This record gives sequence, structure tokens and C-alpha cells, in this order.
Amino acid sequence: MTSPAPASAPTQDELKAQVGRAALDYVVKGEIIGVGTGSTVNKFIEALAGIKDQIRGAVSSSEASTERLKALGIEVFDSNAVEELAVYIDGADEIDGRGYMIKGGGAALTREKIVAAQSRRFVCIADASKLVNTLGAFPLPVEVVPMAARRVMRQFARLGGLAQVREKDGAPLVTDNGQHIIDVTGLRITDPLGFEAEVNQWPGVVEVGVFAHQRASVCLLATSSGVRTMR
Ligand code: 5RP
Repeated sequence: MTSPAPASAPTQDELKAQVGRAALDYVVKGEIIGVGTGSTVNKFIEALAGIKDQIRGAVSSSEASTERLKALGIEVFDSNAVEELAVYIDGADEIDGRGYMIKGGGAALTREKIVAAQSRRFVCIADASKLVNTLGAFPLPVEVVPMAARRVMRQFARLGGLAQVREKDGAPLVTDNGQHIIDVTGLRITDPLGFEAEVNQWPGVVEVGVFAHQRASVCLLATSSGVRTMR
């Protein structure tokens, strides 16, 4: 007798879809919800389409997510039109056991932090590969005013970081806010709260991609054996 073939491990795409669906449990019915940016959030938006009649709409953290939400018939509100959001759902590039994150791989970090700041609860959705002990292996995104880019890059060099201007089609990438992104490698961020506060006061920095003051309240982590909840 032959035994059944072992089930193959879920792909990263399947894990993202799984955690995107799991986030529906955190959607507050009858409310406007905050929606982040990225491939994991795109899975969440697909799942959200199934319950779109149960929410009033969304505040979005990027033009890309806005387009997807509107295409599904979900109303998108300006963040200035909403005082407070019950929940913000977004992905991360790295998250540690305390809920501190690196974000901005999709260049939307500034709007993401704004929507996170106006939300009572930040639900991070990620696959297990994003969980780290110490932030910094993922190149840290920093949104900068273009004329300050070189100076900010030199400041990171003094901290041991190597910064590069992010490019798209051979030219500096321009964010939804009309600014540039630098990505910094070689950092080990042991004090995320202090680091975020320090870098954010450098002239020309619009926002640093460390989310410590706006850390995740809950993280849903997709693993090959199901979705794990970290609080
Ligand atoms: C975009 C982000 C994303 O949340 C982060 O890059 C994770 O993206 P993905 O779900 O595609 O891995 O911060 O600016």
C-alpha cells in the first residue's frame, strides 16, 4: 500500500492570501477602516471585497491601494475627513517580537505612518519570513526631500549605513508625495524608538521607515501550519 503524498508547503503567495483573509476578523463593521499598501494588503483588499457592504469605506495609504479599493466599489475617504479610525491593516518588511517594524518597501511609508497614527489599533499582516530578532537586515527606506538626499546619506554613513537613492526605470523613484526614497543597508536597529526619533529630526527627512512610535498592536503571522497571532 502506498501512503498519500505529503502536502506541499504553502507558497509565499498562499501565505499572504491566508493572512489577508484572517485580517477580516479585525475589520470593525459599520466603520471606515485604514488600509495599507503592498502585496499582502492586496490580498486583504481582495478578501475585503466580500464584506464591503459591512463597512462605510476606507482611508488609504497610497494611490495604488486607492485604485484597487475604488475598483472594487469601496469608497475611499480623505484622511482629513475622518477624525479617528478604529483599525489600520497593513503589511511590514520586518517585524520584531515587540511589534516594532520596518516598512516602506513599497515607498508608501509616510502615508502609512499618517494613517497608522490616526488609528486606534494597528493590525500587521505578514508571512513568517518577516519576523526578526533585530530590525535592520531589510534595507531601511527613508523618504527625503530630493535636495537633502546626499546630506542624509552622509549622516547614515556616520552611523555605519550605506544609503542608495531608490530608482525606477533608471531615474529616482518619485513617491506619491513627490519626494525620493533612500534605502539604507548595514544598520542594526537595537533602539527603534530612539532611532526613529533621531532620524526624523534630520533636516530633509520626510519620514523614516522605522515604525516604533506607531508599532503594531497585533501581528497576524502566516506560517505553514496556520496563522499565528502575536500581541
Ligand atoms: C509598503 C510597505 C509594505 O507594507 C511592505 O513593503 C510589505 O509589503 P509586502 O506585503 O508586499 O511584502 O511598507 O510601503
